[in-house]
Amino acid sequence: MAMKPTKADKFSFGLWTIGYNGTDPFGGPTRPDLDVVEAVERLNDLGAYGLTFHDDDLFAFGSSDAARQKQIDRLTQALADTGIVVPMVTTNLFSAPVFKDGGFTSNDREVRRFALRKVLRNLDLAAELGAKTFVMWGGREGSEYDSAKNVGAALERYREAVNLLGDYVTDKGYDIRFAIEPKPNEPRGDILLPTLGHALAFINTLDRPELVGVNPEVGHEQMAGLNFTAGIAQAIEHGKLYHIDLNGQRGIKYDQDLVFGHGDVMNAFSLVDLLENGGLNGGPAYDGPRHFDYKPSRTEDITGVWDSAAANMANYLMFKERAAAFRADPEVQAAFAAARVNELSEPTLNAGESYDDLIADRSAYEDFTPERYFGGQGYGFVRLQQLAVEHLLGFRA
Ligand code: GCO
Ligand code: MN
Ligand code: MN
Repeated sequence: MAMKPTKADKFSFGLWTIGYNGTDPFGGPTRPDLDVVEAVERLNDLGAYGLTFHDDDLFAFGSSDAARQKQIDRLTQALADTGIVVPMVTTNLFSAPVFKDGGFTSNDREVRRFALRKVLRNLDLAAELGAKTFVMWGGREGSEYDSAKNVGAALERYREAVNLLGDYVTDKGYDIRFAIEPKPNEPRGDILLPTLGHALAFINTLDRPELVGVNPEVGHEQMAGLNFTAGIAQAIEHGKLYHIDLNGQRGIKYDQDLVFGHGDVMNAFSLVDLLENGGLNGGPAYDGPRHFDYKPSRTEDITGVWDSAAANMANYLMFKERAAAFRADPEVQAAFAAARVNELSEPTLNAGESYDDLIADRSAYEDFTPERYFGGQGYGFVRLQQLAVEHLLGFRA
């Protein structure tokens, strides 16, 4: 029962995802490189709406201006032919040897200045293509050795960089916001801003915090042993979910970049339920691109590449359909009520109630009976979770 997406579903893919040629630390490519025009056309056939890319995905690092422009023109033509859009652009500050100690936070000041120039140039391209989000993944911003990196200074330099970029888009009048993508490690032993929480705290220290949000990735938070859905809920609560990287991960290990839904299935279900039904009046809590940042496994040929691209979208839609059925089930609603899930949305104090009023309320303390929670007053969370599993596995309509 594969579900077919449409552009209204807002599914987007990185050019580096479907374009991954299978290279890993232990072996070279297992597939030829994918041309950008073919990528756009095939994504369009499959029902995606967007393509994203790093500068170096489209034109090789160090390309001449003419070679760069040629690739931009080929992409622009493919976009016009298909209606595919570019919602997000990002800059590669990690592949070239010059970035071996990072870009914005390299110990080498000349490298930092070069990194800023590379990003400024790419921001112009992002604006030209109509991208609304500029992702910053600091894969090489970090270190392997504590004494080799002054983390406080690195944070100052990262702040300096993001503040400059904020000034630039503001002065140029670009309609672009930035999204920081946290990751705990890989390729560096430890990466700066390793989790969503670190990134959210950092954003509050910027000159223009309103221009900067997060681009969390499923696998990255799970590599740190964290609950992705819970992190996304916090990002949404702070108004900072500007973009999202969907994929699959199985536990605390290297960054697997599996197809979305091929990792922690329950967490993928709760994530889609949150994104689609967690907003006001049960509507969507997020309306941005559903962006897949996965790698078609090295074992696959080109048929497997496109099958895996389609699988990401189909899985998202299946989770969405199952989440809607879950919410529509009267037994689930009864379980939600028994579990008092909605009661958490009620303020703990009455309107206008002060601490004096609370202290005067005997029912809150003197007449309250905490003893009844021993052996009684269960929440039924397990029943609610079991209903979710039954819906997810298709054993309930
Ligand atoms: C990774 C990252 C990257 C970024 C990309 C966009 O672990 O390799 O997820 O794929 O998302 O560089 O900035
Ligand atoms: Mn990743
Ligand atoms: Mn990513």
